[in-house]
Amino acid sequence: MCGIFGYSGNKQAQGLVIQGLKHLEYRGYDSSGIAMQTHSHKILIEKTHGKIKNLEATLKNNPLSGTTAIGHTRWATHGIPTPENAHPHLNESDELAVVHNGIIENYFELKQALQKQGVRFRSETDTEVIVHLVAKYYKGNLEEAVRRTLKDLKGTYAIAVISSSEPGKIVAAKMDSPLVIGSTKKESYLASDISALLEHTNHVTFIENGDVVTMNQGSFSITDIAGKKISRPVMKIDWDITQAKKGGYQHFMLKEIFEQPGILTAILKERIRGGAIYFDELKITAAQFKKIKRIFIIACGTAYHAGLTAKYILEDLAGIPVSIDTSSEFRYRDPKVDKSTLVIVVSQSGETADTLAGLREAKAKGAMTLAICNVLASSIAREAKGVIYTHAGPEIAVASTKAFTAQLTVLSLFAFYLGALFKTISPKKEKALLKELLLTPHRIQKILDGYKKEEATWKKNVHNFNIHYHTQLEKYFSAKNHERKRSPNGLFLYLGRNINYPIALEGALKLKEIAYIPAEGYPAGEMKHGPIALIDENPWVICLVPESKTYDKMISNIQEIRARGGRIIPIVTEGDKKIERLNPVFTIEVPKTPEIFSPLLTVIPLQLFAYLVALEFGEDIDQPRNLAKSVTVE
Ligand code: M6R
Repeated sequence: MCGIFGYSGNKQAQGLVIQGLKHLEYRGYDSSGIAMQTHSHKILIEKTHGKIKNLEATLKNNPLSGTTAIGHTRWATHGIPTPENAHPHLNESDELAVVHNGIIENYFELKQALQKQGVRFRSETDTEVIVHLVAKYYKGNLEEAVRRTLKDLKGTYAIAVISSSEPGKIVAAKMDSPLVIGSTKKESYLASDISALLEHTNHVTFIENGDVVTMNQGSFSITDIAGKKISRPVMKIDWDITQAKKGGYQHFMLKEIFEQPGILTAILKERIRGGAIYFDELKITAAQFKKIKRIFIIACGTAYHAGLTAKYILEDLAGIPVSIDTSSEFRYRDPKVDKSTLVIVVSQSGETADTLAGLREAKAKGAMTLAICNVLASSIAREAKGVIYTHAGPEIAVASTKAFTAQLTVLSLFAFYLGALFKTISPKKEKALLKELLLTPHRIQKILDGYKKEEATWKKNVHNFNIHYHTQLEKYFSAKNHERKRSPNGLFLYLGRNINYPIALEGALKLKEIAYIPAEGYPAGEMKHGPIALIDENPWVICLVPESKTYDKMISNIQEIRARGGRIIPIVTEGDKKIERLNPVFTIEVPKTPEIFSPLLTVIPLQLFAYLVALEFGEDIDQPRNLAKSVTVE
């Protein structure tokens, strides 16, 4: 979490840093700040509570002039979001400034020791110890002082430090938090993520753990903690800057939902050639894959749901047992994996702390590891033995949409690849199913076109929910205390079976994270074992009921909900005749497709639905409260 940005060049730095931070705002947005090298012997800073636009507004009245600056957008870990706790942090004489992404685990001991030496702290953050340590060790060489400081730190960090005595210079270092640098002839940039660099350069260098970078107006050098020179490759990124802009959409989330057909078309075109599946970047050979006996998938959040859906597909097509865990559970429970296990780690950002730790745990146990990642050269992509990129382009909205369908498409293709390798799928079945998979982008487009046509109806239904919800609230609060049986039930239930059960989880997650409405995903068959007690006329029950082998079972479950007054919004295959008899609030149709690919379709209306509810409730869709895009702390 948190985003850092730095600029050293021949242009005014303020605007560039603000622009860079805006690209990184999805990583944290509770406060932000900038530190500027000026001609005076002090570093000037500006910090504000809230989003970058607040910082921008303050700077409009009080601009900072200079050509070397560092900036930060924060997701609070230590200390509440206030200007004092916002980064950058200064040393006591205001001659050094630091920005930091990560957590300094031994900050308390370091702080106590520094306080004993008389150092006065101005914030409650863990980060502030860094700048005081740099000050302690500073003898006219910033790089040396940073290197010495790193020896005292335990934890994770990407830091950037400037000194008023060394014009043009930024010293940065990394341990387990991402850091990427880019350079043009006269300018050097650093950022937490490539999306912030793309408008300046698409030639970037990823910094590794233990590296110390010194950059100065167009040049940079990398050394290790002992000061030995290191060379890191410059990589060309083919992401297009327009992908990181809203392009006329009201929100990134909506834009990313609508990008899905194009992304899936590109993935399928790249990976399926002459009827066979290719993963050119994969460093694991067919012979090595043949040795695996089971698969373990680890991931968090939406990536976990992609993994859970893929479990069904992998078991079906590749005939191999698949277990799955959320990364935070996997890493602390001594998982039973060994060299006959393929551990697949799924992550959009490739930086999620728990997933990275799970990957390391799996490697330590001798498992073969494969990353399914979106961000090129991210930590997870680099540390896994093999990697398959999802090539979904930058995903900016905190709520993941296009990354999910890209992950699921890649995992499906991987299931075909293993199926062919293990001979668990006949060439005839493979050919027929791939033909269907190739039609998926077109089918998603059909759903999106249908949504555009029916947008007014969707919005009306969502508005009705809002009215219903608020009427319930009013009734509750106007009732006398003893008449209040329980809090008003604005709950959404998402039900699915088999391969659409993970989609129920994903639909509920989307609604929770951007609309802040309690929502639960359940396997429909579990309703009778408890959750059906929630059903009265209040909850809205979204039922995933496309054509499938469990269709009739789903219909029975829906009947049980209707019999208790529950309202339903079914997602069905177009042409479904049975569902209208159950008197739904409204029905959403998706095109016909084999059950195995139905999640790629049924998830689309759920993404749109969550988007519309959040819009109706006036929430901050792209940057929901308390969240950040990359969860780089445990
Ligand atoms: O970058 P990752 O895919 O590893 O991120 C995992 C989760 O943090 C992420 O999917 C999160 O759940 C999303 N906000 C969900 O929309």
